[in-house]
Amino acid sequence: MKLFHNIASPFVRKVRVLAAETGQSARIELVQSVFTPVQPDRELFGSNPLGKIPTLLLDDGTALYDSRVICEYLDSLHEGPKMFPALGPARWAALTRQAQGDGILDAAVGTRYELALRDPSRQWPEWIENQRQKYRRSLDALEAESGSLDGAVDIGVITAACALGYLDFRYPDEGWRDARPGLAGWYAAFRERESMRTTAPE
Ligand code: BEZ
Repeated sequence: MKLFHNIASPFVRKVRVLAAETGQSARIELVQSVFTPVQPDRELFGSNPLGKIPTLLLDDGTALYDSRVICEYLDSLHEGPKMFPALGPARWAALTRQAQGDGILDAAVGTRYELALRDPSRQWPEWIENQRQKYRRSLDALEAESGSLDGAVDIGVITAACALGYLDFRYPDEGWRDARPGLAGWYAAFRERESMRTTAPE
């Protein structure tokens, strides 16, 4: 299997963390993808018309995307503890937490593009502020639930951890830990897992 990737992408990191947590890292060959928000990777178009990473190319030529689909596919390939719980309340909780983490990432990545790549004269301050409020509210919600993060590793906590890792990577001055001691304590331990250490963008 080939994974089109970029070390800075937190969505790729989700896939790689799940692969590591389920003992499948060695099955995945990483293929470097080069792009900007306005210049997608044309090499990818044959597999994914969106030209986005992560895209997973199976040995039979089937292409899977996005990170949610790839993660669930990889989870179907192993016999160990599942990262996507079976039908029932635990599944809905894990999927909702995944959606929340992906939403933090959508807001944080979009803001990163706006601030780092767009000419300041063309930036939209109200839009930037709205994106920041989205991820800050979501971090507050995670703090309120931080007691429940410590259970079994699943796709929800993997996504939350990748979101926090991205904030540290791109927004080191955000200070997200300041009013969120529960979340900070949980992440301090989770980031030391081998799956997180071996996929860190720093
Ligand atoms: C980044 O450089 O922050 C980034 C790269 C790829 C995907 C998303 C974010």
